[in-house]
Amino acid sequence: MKITVVGATGLIGAQVVELLSAAGHDVKAASRSSGVDAVSGDGVGAAFEGADVVVDVLNSPTLEPGPALEFFTASATTLLAAAKKADVRHYVVLSIVGVGSIEADGYLHGKHLQEQLVADSGVPYTIVRATQFHEFTEGIAGSLVVDGQVHAPDALIQPVAAAEVAGVVAGVATEAPHNAVLNFGGPEKMSFADLARAVFAAQGKDLPVVVDPQATYFGVPVQQNSLVTDDGAELGTTRLAEWLDR
Ligand SMILES: NC(=O)c1ccc[n+]([C@@H]2O[C@H](COP(=O)([O-])OP(=O)(O)OC[C@H]3O[C@@H](n4cnc5c(N)ncnc54)[C@H](OP(=O)(O)O)[C@@H]3O)[C@@H](O)[C@H]2O)c1
Repeated sequence: MKITVVGATGLIGAQVVELLSAAGHDVKAASRSSGVDAVSGDGVGAAFEGADVVVDVLNSPTLEPGPALEFFTASATTLLAAAKKADVRHYVVLSIVGVGSIEADGYLHGKHLQEQLVADSGVPYTIVRATQFHEFTEGIAGSLVVDGQVHAPDALIQPVAAAEVAGVVAGVATEAPHNAVLNFGGPEKMSFADLARAVFAAQGKDLPVVVDPQATYFGVPVQQNSLVTDDGAELGTTRLAEWLDR
Protein backbone atom coordinates (compact mmCIF):
# COMPACT_ATOMS: atom_id res chain seq x y z
CA MET A 1 0.00 0.00 0.00
CA LYS A 2 1.09 3.60 -0.61
CA ILE A 3 0.82 5.42 2.72
CA THR A 4 1.68 9.05 3.47
CA VAL A 5 2.37 9.84 7.12
CA VAL A 6 1.96 13.53 8.03
CA GLY A 7 3.84 14.41 11.21
CA ALA A 8 6.39 11.76 10.29
CA THR A 9 9.21 13.09 12.46
CA GLY A 10 7.13 13.18 15.65
CA LEU A 11 7.06 10.82 18.61
CA ILE A 12 4.25 8.74 17.07
CA GLY A 13 4.92 9.53 13.41
CA ALA A 14 8.52 8.28 13.37
CA GLN A 15 7.43 4.95 14.87
CA VAL A 16 4.47 4.61 12.48
CA VAL A 17 6.80 5.22 9.50
CA GLU A 18 9.20 2.58 10.80
CA LEU A 19 6.47 -0.02 11.43
CA LEU A 20 4.76 0.46 8.05
CA SER A 21 8.07 0.48 6.15
CA ALA A 22 9.18 -2.70 7.94
CA ALA A 23 5.87 -4.30 6.91
CA GLY A 24 6.74 -3.63 3.25
CA HIS A 25 4.49 -0.63 2.54
CA ASP A 26 5.53 2.24 0.30
CA VAL A 27 5.70 5.02 2.92
CA LYS A 28 6.10 8.75 2.30
CA ALA A 29 7.27 10.64 5.39
CA ALA A 30 5.86 14.18 5.45
CA SER A 31 6.55 17.06 7.80
CA ARG A 32 7.82 20.63 7.52
CA SER A 33 11.41 19.36 7.63
CA SER A 34 10.70 17.44 4.39
CA GLY A 35 9.07 20.47 2.74
CA VAL A 36 5.42 19.64 3.55
CA ASP A 37 3.45 22.25 5.48
CA ALA A 38 0.00 21.06 6.53
CA VAL A 39 -1.17 24.57 7.36
CA SER A 40 -0.04 26.53 4.27
CA GLY A 41 -0.49 23.49 2.00
CA ASP A 42 3.05 23.72 0.59
CA GLY A 43 4.14 20.30 -0.72
CA VAL A 44 0.92 18.55 0.39
CA GLY A 45 -0.36 17.79 -3.14
CA ALA A 46 2.87 16.07 -4.12
CA ALA A 47 3.02 14.17 -0.81
CA PHE A 48 -0.50 12.77 -1.36
CA GLU A 49 -0.09 11.89 -5.05
CA GLY A 50 -0.89 8.19 -5.52
CA ALA A 51 -1.46 7.62 -1.79
CA ASP A 52 -4.01 4.97 -0.80
CA VAL A 53 -3.90 6.02 2.84
CA VAL A 54 -3.00 9.19 4.76
CA VAL A 55 -2.05 9.00 8.44
CA ASP A 56 -2.39 12.33 10.27
CA VAL A 57 -0.24 12.31 13.40
CA LEU A 58 0.53 16.02 13.34
CA ASN A 59 0.85 18.02 16.48
CA SER A 60 0.54 21.71 17.12
CA PRO A 61 3.92 23.38 17.73
CA THR A 62 2.28 25.23 20.64
CA LEU A 63 -0.14 24.28 23.43
CA GLU A 64 -1.38 27.89 23.64
CA PRO A 65 -5.17 27.67 23.35
CA GLY A 66 -5.88 29.99 20.39
CA PRO A 67 -2.98 29.00 18.12
CA ALA A 68 -3.41 25.26 18.93
CA LEU A 69 -7.10 25.37 18.00
CA GLU A 70 -6.26 27.28 14.82
CA PHE A 71 -3.52 24.75 13.95
CA PHE A 72 -5.79 21.68 14.12
CA THR A 73 -8.65 23.24 12.16
CA ALA A 74 -6.37 24.79 9.50
CA SER A 75 -4.26 21.65 9.02
CA ALA A 76 -7.30 19.34 8.85
CA THR A 77 -9.01 21.62 6.31
CA THR A 78 -5.89 21.71 4.11
CA LEU A 79 -5.10 18.00 4.36
CA LEU A 80 -8.67 16.79 3.80
CA ALA A 81 -9.08 18.96 0.67
CA ALA A 82 -5.84 17.49 -0.69
CA ALA A 83 -6.90 13.95 0.30
CA LYS A 84 -10.17 14.37 -1.62
CA LYS A 85 -8.34 15.68 -4.66
CA ALA A 86 -5.90 12.75 -4.58
CA ASP A 87 -8.77 10.25 -4.13
CA VAL A 88 -7.27 8.92 -0.89
CA ARG A 89 -9.17 5.80 0.26
CA HIS A 90 -8.57 6.03 4.01
CA TYR A 91 -7.71 8.98 6.29
CA VAL A 92 -6.46 7.94 9.73
CA VAL A 93 -6.15 10.58 12.43
CA LEU A 94 -4.82 10.26 15.97
CA SER A 95 -6.90 12.03 18.61
CA ILE A 96 -7.38 11.93 22.37
CA VAL A 97 -9.78 9.91 24.54
CA GLY A 98 -12.50 12.17 25.92
CA VAL A 99 -12.16 15.11 23.52
CA GLY A 100 -15.83 14.94 22.58
CA SER A 101 -17.06 15.24 26.14
CA ILE A 102 -14.59 17.64 27.78
CA GLU A 103 -15.55 21.30 27.81
CA ALA A 104 -12.43 23.10 26.65
CA ASP A 105 -11.72 26.09 24.45
CA GLY A 106 -8.16 25.50 23.25
CA TYR A 107 -6.05 22.49 22.29
CA LEU A 108 -8.66 19.84 23.21
CA HIS A 109 -11.44 21.76 21.45
CA GLY A 110 -9.16 21.99 18.42
CA LYS A 111 -8.72 18.20 18.48
CA HIS A 112 -12.50 17.77 18.60
CA LEU A 113 -13.02 20.14 15.67
CA GLN A 114 -10.29 18.25 13.79
CA GLU A 115 -12.21 15.01 14.39
CA GLN A 116 -15.45 16.60 13.16
CA LEU A 117 -13.78 17.90 9.99
CA VAL A 118 -12.46 14.39 9.30
CA ALA A 119 -15.82 12.70 9.96
CA ASP A 120 -17.71 15.22 7.80
CA SER A 121 -15.20 15.33 4.94
CA GLY A 122 -16.59 12.55 2.80
CA VAL A 123 -13.17 10.85 2.81
CA PRO A 124 -13.39 7.35 4.37
CA TYR A 125 -11.74 7.61 7.78
CA THR A 126 -10.80 6.13 11.12
CA ILE A 127 -10.31 8.26 14.23
CA VAL A 128 -8.04 6.58 16.79
CA ARG A 129 -8.38 8.18 20.22
CA ALA A 130 -5.58 7.37 22.69
CA THR A 131 -5.10 8.23 26.35
CA GLN A 132 -2.07 10.23 27.60
CA PHE A 133 1.34 8.83 26.62
CA HIS A 134 3.79 7.62 29.30
CA GLU A 135 6.25 9.98 27.57
CA PHE A 136 3.98 12.91 28.52
CA THR A 137 3.55 12.04 32.22
CA GLU A 138 6.58 14.04 33.41
CA GLY A 139 5.07 17.12 31.77
CA ILE A 140 1.68 16.40 33.33
CA ALA A 141 3.11 15.86 36.82
CA GLY A 142 5.31 18.96 36.52
CA SER A 143 2.32 21.09 35.53
CA LEU A 144 0.58 20.22 38.81
CA VAL A 145 3.28 21.65 41.10
CA VAL A 146 2.43 24.91 42.85
CA ASP A 147 4.90 26.28 45.44
CA GLY A 148 6.55 22.88 45.90
CA GLN A 149 3.26 21.02 46.37
CA VAL A 150 1.42 18.81 43.86
CA HIS A 151 -2.21 19.90 43.33
CA ALA A 152 -3.80 16.90 41.67
CA PRO A 153 -7.21 17.08 39.96
CA ASP A 154 -9.74 14.69 41.50
CA ALA A 155 -9.85 12.53 38.38
CA LEU A 156 -8.50 9.39 36.75
CA ILE A 157 -5.84 9.09 34.07
CA GLN A 158 -4.76 6.01 32.07
CA PRO A 159 -1.26 6.43 30.64
CA VAL A 160 -0.17 4.34 27.67
CA ALA A 161 3.17 3.71 25.94
CA ALA A 162 3.55 5.77 22.74
CA ALA A 163 5.07 2.71 21.04
CA GLU A 164 1.83 0.80 21.60
CA VAL A 165 -0.22 3.72 20.25
CA ALA A 166 2.02 3.81 17.15
CA GLY A 167 1.41 0.07 16.72
CA VAL A 168 -2.36 0.57 16.79
CA VAL A 169 -2.23 3.52 14.36
CA ALA A 170 -0.01 1.57 11.93
CA GLY A 171 -2.32 -1.44 12.17
CA VAL A 172 -5.44 0.62 11.52
CA ALA A 173 -3.77 2.27 8.51
CA THR A 174 -3.64 -1.11 6.76
CA GLU A 175 -7.28 -1.98 7.53
CA ALA A 176 -10.43 -0.89 5.73
CA PRO A 177 -11.79 2.45 7.00
CA HIS A 178 -13.92 2.05 10.14
CA ASN A 179 -15.71 5.40 9.60
CA ALA A 180 -15.86 5.52 13.38
CA VAL A 181 -13.90 6.36 16.52
CA LEU A 182 -11.71 3.62 18.06
CA ASN A 183 -10.48 4.11 21.64
CA PHE A 184 -7.12 2.86 22.92
CA GLY A 185 -5.95 3.23 26.52
CA GLY A 186 -3.24 2.21 28.93
CA PRO A 187 -3.58 -1.00 30.97
CA GLU A 188 -4.49 0.72 34.26
CA LYS A 189 -6.53 3.68 35.43
CA MET A 190 -4.99 5.66 38.30
CA SER A 191 -5.63 8.91 40.10
CA PHE A 192 -3.70 12.03 39.04
CA ALA A 193 -2.29 11.97 42.60
CA ASP A 194 -0.87 8.46 42.13
CA LEU A 195 0.51 9.35 38.72
CA ALA A 196 2.34 12.34 40.22
CA ARG A 197 3.66 10.23 43.13
CA ALA A 198 5.00 7.61 40.68
CA VAL A 199 6.64 10.17 38.38
CA PHE A 200 8.28 12.15 41.20
CA ALA A 201 9.42 8.96 43.01
CA ALA A 202 11.12 7.88 39.77
CA GLN A 203 12.88 11.28 39.74
CA GLY A 204 13.98 10.79 43.37
CA LYS A 205 11.73 13.65 44.53
CA ASP A 206 9.44 13.52 47.53
CA LEU A 207 6.81 16.22 46.99
CA PRO A 208 3.66 16.54 49.10
CA VAL A 209 0.54 15.67 47.09
CA VAL A 210 -2.94 17.07 47.72
CA VAL A 211 -6.10 16.28 45.79
CA ASP A 212 -7.44 19.70 44.88
CA PRO A 213 -10.96 19.98 43.40
CA GLN A 214 -9.91 23.28 41.77
CA ALA A 215 -6.87 21.74 40.04
CA THR A 216 -7.06 21.39 36.26
CA TYR A 217 -5.47 19.44 33.42
CA PHE A 218 -3.50 22.22 31.68
CA GLY A 219 -6.25 24.71 32.51
CA VAL A 220 -9.09 22.35 31.63
CA PRO A 221 -11.40 21.18 34.44
CA VAL A 222 -11.71 17.39 34.27
CA GLN A 223 -14.28 15.04 35.83
CA GLN A 224 -13.46 11.63 37.33
CA ASN A 225 -13.73 9.75 34.00
CA SER A 226 -13.10 12.53 31.44
CA LEU A 227 -9.73 11.16 30.26
CA VAL A 228 -10.17 7.39 30.58
CA THR A 229 -11.67 4.77 28.27
CA ASP A 230 -15.10 3.21 28.66
CA ASP A 231 -15.52 -0.55 28.97
CA GLY A 232 -14.70 -2.42 25.80
CA ALA A 233 -11.80 -0.21 24.61
CA GLU A 234 -8.62 -1.89 23.44
CA LEU A 235 -5.86 -1.61 26.08
CA GLY A 236 -2.06 -1.58 25.96
CA THR A 237 0.06 -3.79 28.20
CA THR A 238 2.98 -1.63 29.41
CA ARG A 239 2.22 -0.20 32.87
CA LEU A 240 3.53 3.25 33.85
CA ALA A 241 5.67 1.79 36.67
CA GLU A 242 7.40 -0.59 34.24
CA TRP A 243 7.96 2.22 31.75
CA LEU A 244 9.40 4.55 34.46
CA ASP A 245 11.71 1.72 35.62
CA ARG A 246 13.26 1.56 32.18
N1 LIG B 1 0.71 13.52 24.14
C1 LIG B 1 -0.26 12.68 24.42
O1 LIG B 1 -0.35 12.16 25.56
C2 LIG B 1 -1.30 12.34 23.37
C3 LIG B 1 -2.33 11.44 23.69
C4 LIG B 1 -3.25 11.09 22.69
C5 LIG B 1 -3.15 11.67 21.41
N2 LIG B 1 -2.15 12.57 21.14
C6 LIG B 1 -2.07 13.15 19.78
O2 LIG B 1 -1.04 12.50 19.08
C7 LIG B 1 -0.65 13.33 17.96
C8 LIG B 1 0.85 13.17 17.70
O3 LIG B 1 1.56 13.62 18.84
P1 LIG B 1 3.16 13.50 18.93
O4 LIG B 1 3.51 13.67 20.38
O5 LIG B 1 3.66 12.31 18.18
O6 LIG B 1 3.58 14.82 18.14
P2 LIG B 1 5.04 15.49 18.03
O7 LIG B 1 6.08 14.56 18.54
O8 LIG B 1 4.95 16.86 18.62
O9 LIG B 1 5.23 15.60 16.44
C9 LIG B 1 4.51 16.51 15.69
C10 LIG B 1 4.79 16.31 14.20
O10 LIG B 1 4.03 17.27 13.46
C11 LIG B 1 4.91 17.89 12.50
N3 LIG B 1 4.39 19.23 12.20
C12 LIG B 1 4.15 20.27 13.05
N4 LIG B 1 3.65 21.32 12.38
C13 LIG B 1 3.55 20.94 11.08
C14 LIG B 1 3.08 21.56 9.89
N5 LIG B 1 2.60 22.82 9.87
N6 LIG B 1 3.12 20.86 8.72
C15 LIG B 1 3.60 19.60 8.68
N7 LIG B 1 4.05 18.94 9.78
C16 LIG B 1 4.03 19.61 10.96
C17 LIG B 1 6.28 17.87 13.18
O11 LIG B 1 7.34 17.92 12.26
P3 LIG B 1 8.04 19.28 11.75
O12 LIG B 1 8.30 20.11 12.97
O13 LIG B 1 9.25 18.82 10.99
O14 LIG B 1 7.05 19.89 10.83
C18 LIG B 1 6.25 16.46 13.80
O15 LIG B 1 6.57 15.50 12.81
C19 LIG B 1 -1.14 14.75 18.32
O16 LIG B 1 -2.15 15.14 17.43
C20 LIG B 1 -1.69 14.64 19.74
O17 LIG B 1 -2.83 15.42 19.93
C21 LIG B 1 -1.22 12.90 22.08
